[in-house]
Amino acid sequence: MEIIETVEAAHAFAASNRQRRVLVPTMGALHHGHLELVRVARKAAGPDGHVSVSIFVNPLQFEPGADYDRYPRTAPADEDACHEAGVDLLFRPSPTEMYADDRSVVVEENALSAKLCGNSRPGHFRGVCTVVTKLFHLLAPHAAVFGEKDFQQLAIIRRLVRDLNIPVEIIGVRTVREADGLAASSRNQYLSSEEREQAAVLRSALLEAADLARNGEASATRIVAAVRERIGSASLARIDYVELVDADTLQAQQQATRNSLVAVAVFFGKTRLIDNICLQ
Ligand code: PAJ
Repeated sequence: MEIIETVEAAHAFAASNRQRRVLVPTMGALHHGHLELVRVARKAAGPDGHVSVSIFVNPLQFEPGADYDRYPRTAPADEDACHEAGVDLLFRPSPTEMYADDRSVVVEENALSAKLCGNSRPGHFRGVCTVVTKLFHLLAPHAAVFGEKDFQQLAIIRRLVRDLNIPVEIIGVRTVREADGLAASSRNQYLSSEEREQAAVLRSALLEAADLARNGEASATRIVAAVRERIGSASLARIDYVELVDADTLQAQQQATRNSLVAVAVFFGKTRLIDNICLQ
């Protein structure tokens, strides 16, 4: 596995590599969810293809006062995990390598970003779109892999490559979960043992929504109320949002359809967890 840390080395890699290149962008603190993305990337790259992982805790996507400083940084363990997973290239730039002090250009998506997490995390998706665009320019992948856990992010990145004609195929991967159903996340390690135990309520609440819809309930109000009530049964949970939206437009719906998604964001202490389920 090759490790590169500079913009110059990234450009040189993209210019000289003639294989099919598949990129998995991450912020590190790698867990089995990330490693599933790497497996999908390997398959998408094909036997002669090339899999890259980028690890960059992107300051632009953390709102002021948010958890940028305390975000877990586990470089040696991440390097080992990538090596074991058969990653070909690890791109691990520093913030100063990625951003000039007087940088003044950003990439902004203006419809999907305003919804769901956009309300509580202003500027977050601008930071995501900016860094992902830069990574696409730097490593010039043919395809890139993202998780459905961050459903809104995935939808925005599909819109980004469509609207800016960036020739990168976007591949979505189903959410990888712990044994009790909690979505694997780098942020789970912030949870106290009591919070961690209670956090499984997110999955059971979302499964209840899917059950209700399957049994004919179409009212968004009633489905959302059931999810809120179930989450509310966990004493340490503080709901940020519970919404039933169209999976393509992320527009709130009155009535569930076959293309509906229920998305939730819930605080346990200072830790904000997100999850979602497609109703079908
Ligand atoms: P990060 O939170 O490290 O996640 C990297 C990728 O892993 C994202 O595509 C995310 O959706 C996916 N992922 C995380 N947990 C997952 C799980 N349990 N199951 C499936 N996929 C999972 O998302 C980011 O970093 C950043 O915003 C980034 C896109 C790298 C831009 O900075």
